[in-house]
Amino acid sequence: MSQRMTLITSPIFVPEAQLKKAGSFASLFGNSNPLALEIGCGIGDFIVQIAQRHPEQNFIAVDIFNQGCRQTCSRIESSGLSNILMMRIEARYLMHHYLGEKSLQAIYINCPDPWPKKRQRKRRLLNQNFVDLSLYCLQDHGELNFSTDFTDYGESAAELLNREERLNNLATTPYTHELGNYPISKYMQRFLDLGQPIFLCRYKKKPDLNIDPPKVNKGFRLRWGKGES
Ligand SMILES: C[S@@+](CC[C@H](N)C(=O)[O-])C[C@H]1O[C@@H](n2cnc3c(N)ncnc32)[C@H](O)[C@@H]1O
Repeated sequence: MSQRMTLITSPIFVPEAQLKKAGSFASLFGNSNPLALEIGCGIGDFIVQIAQRHPEQNFIAVDIFNQGCRQTCSRIESSGLSNILMMRIEARYLMHHYLGEKSLQAIYINCPDPWPKKRQRKRRLLNQNFVDLSLYCLQDHGELNFSTDFTDYGESAAELLNREERLNNLATTPYTHELGNYPISKYMQRFLDLGQPIFLCRYKKKPDLNIDPPKVNKGFRLRWGKGES
């Protein structure tokens, strides 16, 4: 991936080395409030809305796109919220290496890259490996929230989540187009404006499960090159 890199100096932005040194998100936030993760936060509009509604929780926004991270940090700074931190990091790498068992109260994924061509579908974020990793990281009753504008992705994600015995569906159908009070991200709004429905899947982890640590999947890029943060 080639992208224009800008140094991000915002106090919201946490380079990996800072997290490593601090040892935990609780130490970075200065409290041990429940933690939620947004994967692929784009320009940060969703995370600001959800964090405003839940001042009792801490939020980590992650994205791999430097310019999106920069915009997200500015947006968070303008909001005045102190319960969000941002990292430029691959989500599964963060989960595997820094987020332990039952560390997350919620995971949010909105309009992830759809990889529409058949031969690209194996690159999609939501698959059984990711569900296993999420179940390991989620607390009892922790939420796994997924939205997409892409029909094929929405239907296959809903089928996967709905047949997962370790999850309870928060809706009555595997996916819904009724967004209720779920905050709307930039991409969601873009597709709603075009008259396209959003597929929303909201599931909760069942309590009292014993889940083995998932094996690290080498199929995605685990580390950034030197000098990138
Ligand atoms: C289509 S955009 C959606 C942005 C935002 N969620 C929204 O709905 O407006 C997908 C975003 O996910 C990020 N992304 C893709 N794969 C990722 C991964 N494995 N870890 C972290 N971010 C990722 C991309 O860089 C991009 O910013």
